[in-house]
Amino acid sequence: MPAVKPVTVTDFRLARSQNRRLGVLTAYDYSTAKLLDAAGVDAILVGDSLGMVVQGHATSLPVTLDEMIYHTKCVTRGTKRAMVITDLPFMTYQLGPTQALESAGRVLKEAGANAVKLEGGVRSRATIAAVVGADIPVMGHIGLTPQSVNGFGGFRVQRDAEKLIADAKAVEEAGAFAMVVECVPVDIVRQIREATTIPLIGIGAGPGCDGQVLVIQDMLGLYGDLAPKFVKVYANLGEQITAAVRDYCRDVQEGTFPASEHTFR
Ligand code: KIV
Repeated sequence: MPAVKPVTVTDFRLARSQNRRLGVLTAYDYSTAKLLDAAGVDAILVGDSLGMVVQGHATSLPVTLDEMIYHTKCVTRGTKRAMVITDLPFMTYQLGPTQALESAGRVLKEAGANAVKLEGGVRSRATIAAVVGADIPVMGHIGLTPQSVNGFGGFRVQRDAEKLIADAKAVEEAGAFAMVVECVPVDIVRQIREATTIPLIGIGAGPGCDGQVLVIQDMLGLYGDLAPKFVKVYANLGEQITAAVRDYCRDVQEGTFPASEHTFR
C-alpha cells in the first residue's frame, strides 16, 4: 500500500491557486476522526463548537484549553491524512501574543495538532503574527465569530463590508495560511476574496469560497438544538440511532437479545 501523504498548509495554499475546493469537517473523538479521514476530508477541525454539540452548553465560551487538548489527542490518534486544526478557546489567546503562544504551543506539543484556529481580524493581527512567527500555522476566523456572541448580541449574519475586508486583510498580512469566513453574505465574500490570496473556508458564506466547513453533528442530523439555514443535512443519523436504541430495548425486554450467536458455550 502506498504511504499516506498528509495534507499540509502548502496543500491549502496551492488549493486556492489551483481552484481546488477544500472539504473540512469538525470532529472531537477517535472513531469519528477515523471515518472522516478515510472518507478523504482535507482537514479536521477540533472546533470549540464541542462546547455546544458535545458538552451541551448554549455557547462555546465555557470550553477550556485542557478540554481542547483532550479532544485533539483523541482526533490525532484517528487521523493519518487530514490536517488537524484545533480551536484556541475563549480567553486562551485574547490576553495577547504571549498567552496565545503558550496555548498554541501546548496544542501542538501535547495533542499533536498541525495548526490552530483563532478568532478575530484586525484585533488579532499581532497575536496571529506571534504564533505564526513560532512556526505554528494559524487559521483565522472572521465574520460571525462565535466567541463574540455576547458582543454581537446573538448569532447574527455579519454585514459590515468595510470591517470584514479590513479583518480579512489583517488575518492574511499576519501570516495565516487560511481563514474561516462565517455567516457573511455572498457579495461581501466576493469582495473579501478579491482583497486576499489565502483560501477562504466558508460556513454560511455561500459557494464563492475556496472550501467549506460544517459541524459534523449538524450535517449528520445528530444535533437539533439549532438549525442554521446554511447547514445541509446529509444523513438523519439521529433518527437512525433512536430507532436502533428502541429496537435494542425491545429485544432486551423480550429476551430475544442476546441470541445463541452472541453467547459463549
Ligand atoms: O468551533 C467550530 O466548530 C468552528 C466552525 C464552525 C468553523 O469554529
